Amino acid sequence: MFTVLQISDTHLSQRIPRFNANWACAARVIASHPAELIVHTGDAALDGPDHAADLDFAASALRTGIGAEGPRLRCVPGNHDVGDRPVIAPHQPTTDARIAAHAAALGACTWVDDAPGWRLIGINTQVLGTGTAAEATQAAMLAEAALTLGDRLLALFMHKPPFLDQADEPDAGYWTVPPGERGALAPLLFHARLRLVASGHLHVHRLIRRGAVMHAWSPATSFMVGPALMADTHGGERRLGILRHRFGVDGVETEVVALPGAEPIVLDPITDEIYPPPPSLAPA
Ligand SMILES: [Fe+2]
Ligand SMILES: [Fe+2]
Repeated sequence: MFTVLQISDTHLSQRIPRFNANWACAARVIASHPAELIVHTGDAALDGPDHAADLDFAASALRTGIGAEGPRLRCVPGNHDVGDRPVIAPHQPTTDARIAAHAAALGACTWVDDAPGWRLIGINTQVLGTGTAAEATQAAMLAEAALTLGDRLLALFMHKPPFLDQADEPDAGYWTVPPGERGALAPLLFHARLRLVASGHLHVHRLIRRGAVMHAWSPATSFMVGPALMADTHGGERRLGILRHRFGVDGVETEVVALPGAEPIVLDPITDEIYPPPPSLAPA
């Protein structure tokens, strides 16, 4: 048995420190929950694509919060770390340079970790469909990881969920991996030994099972997204927190852990203050 704490969507910045105190609350929870590994499922930084200093600050704040004696930290990037597909974020496309900046601050964007009986894989959803060198490198890594899985069980960590409710649903736009890019994940996403798909991005907590697989949406530590920005939570709960995954011989048990003292910030009324629209989209 081993334990992984999943943290997500910290949105840290020295420029705009609105969510930093909530990370401090999460760090106190981490200190009281022993684990072998911490996985951050993206949006570590407030605005990494345009402010590399936010990535550096996030890396420093995460390491300080977890502590030198704390568990090892693995990260996968989010759209607010490295950008997104041009059709979603024309002002902040994911590029190899932005991926390199994230890797320099927070480590490899795609990774494979083997633990007793399990293979844990971190996937960079932000590179899917971009045509970058990093996308090709990741595709080769994921194919190799599927081929060499052996008799281990499989857990995937990524920023955007692969889908909201069903693998064959139509494009959900900003919120998920687009249908056209799910094929790149297919060798892992539909593998018979897959047991966990753990994601962030929606700032909503939800656990749903599809066959043998638990699809776990981690709440954010930073803020919730309200109805004005996200009308439908697809059965999930708007709340803050982290996830605790306990991996055993036969499967994984996942539970949400609250953040005592965290401020229940809702992004909707402060969006323009935190994420001003790019000049091309701003009202004249
Ligand atoms: Fe986020
Ligand atoms: Fe995100």
